[in-house]
Amino acid sequence: MSASQEKAKEVSAKASDGGAGIVFIFFIVGLVVSLLVGWVLFPKVLYCQKEQPFDFNHALHNEMVLDGCQSCHFFRNDGTYSGAPKLNQCIECHTDVQGITKDEEIFVNEYVRNNREVPWLVYSRQPDCVFFSHAAHVLAGEMQCKTCHGHIGNSTSLPVYEYNIITGYSRNIWGHNISGIKKNTWDRMKMDDCAECHRENNVKQYSVQTKKGPCFVCHK
Ligand code: HEC
Ligand code: HEC
Ligand code: HEC
Ligand code: HEC
Ligand code: HEC
Repeated sequence: MSASQEKAKEVSAKASDGGAGIVFIFFIVGLVVSLLVGWVLFPKVLYCQKEQPFDFNHALHNEMVLDGCQSCHFFRNDGTYSGAPKLNQCIECHTDVQGITKDEEIFVNEYVRNNREVPWLVYSRQPDCVFFSHAAHVLAGEMQCKTCHGHIGNSTSLPVYEYNIITGYSRNIWGHNISGIKKNTWDRMKMDDCAECHRENNVKQYSVQTKKGPCFVCHK
């Protein structure tokens, strides 16, 4: 091999080295961009935020009421669940503004004084086609609220409400973790999450009310 031939070989080896380096850099840049789009941008575009009408402090109120959670969230005599509280559960203490917080001022001036119900946004709201009963889980199943709702009942502030712009689902249904990893039972409440617990607890796959099979336990 002549010297010039050897040199040419060396040069071309260097060039292909550089080529691999560039391909690798493009690969990394592409990977980072698609991760950013998938994990940061997509969820931001997919979910919209809405503010609650005003903030509410659970911890503060739990100390003030006599009957704990049941003072505001209770079972009616027919077994149905009261859910988010109505105005008449608040007015005994809030006919007038007692404190100095902006939230209480909004509550009393805009809702209590006008006898208007507060349009609370419900984080756990399921689509209309889903049948859910608190009595089956809390009374018959003796489950704790936090199994499905987490720690909101002892929080000092309501979280921001987020909903999926395509389906309209509350973010709590599919959860906050885009990778789908679930650390707590309350991280999400998709069909699979209901079904997973039902399987573990051998919940019957037949609905007494509709006299129909597996799907109709949760869909009416
Ligand atoms: C047993 C009495 C009592 C009941 C029932 C009650 N509150 Fe209160 N609430 C208080 C007191 C006392 C404060 C503290 C006032 C202050 O010093 O700021 C307060 C504060 C608040 C505040 C401002 C602090 C915060 O939570 O962010 C809001 C808003 C509020 N209440 C809304 C409600 C709503 C809505 C209901 C009904 C679901 C309700 N309260 C039921 C006694 C009560
Ligand atoms: C003074 C009334 C009051 C008391 C007492 C109270 N809550 Fe609430 N709770 C509210 C209000 C008002 C909301 C706001 C409604 C909403 O965002 O759904 C709420 C919302 C919730 C939600 C969110 C439901 C959803 O998906 O949106 C859960 C869960 C909850 N409360 C659990 C509890 C638990 C557990 C306790 C007892 C440790 C408790 N609450 C005590 C008034 C009360
Ligand atoms: C097995 C899971 C589970 C348990 C346990 C549970 N919940 Fe719920 N909760 C849900 C689901 C699911 C919804 C939404 C129901 C719907 O949209 O039809 C809901 C809705 C609610 C709402 C809003 C209802 C409305 O329509 O305004 C409140 C408030 C609430 N739950 C409080 C509680 C409290 C307090 C406890 C404990 C005593 C409790 N939940 C236990 C799953 C659960
Ligand atoms: C953490 C466990 C758990 C989760 C999560 C759960 N369930 Fe259940 N569910 C149960 C258990 C246990 C029972 C049976 C209670 C009993 O009768 O003793 C039950 C019963 C029911 C029943 C009554 C069935 C019948 O006809 O007797 C319905 C309806 C239901 N669940 C719907 C749902 C839906 C919808 C979801 C999700 C939004 C859900 N459940 C999430 C444990 C769970
Ligand atoms: C343990 C309760 C449970 C059972 C059993 C169940 N589902 Fe669901 N299903 C849900 C819940 C909760 C949702 C809403 C959350 C979601 O989309 O994952 C849902 C959503 C759906 C949707 C989407 C509806 C929409 O508007 O987005 C379809 C379709 C569906 N279910 C079909 C079925 C079929 C078919 C079966 C029987 C093989 C079945 N489900 C059994 C709980 C259940």
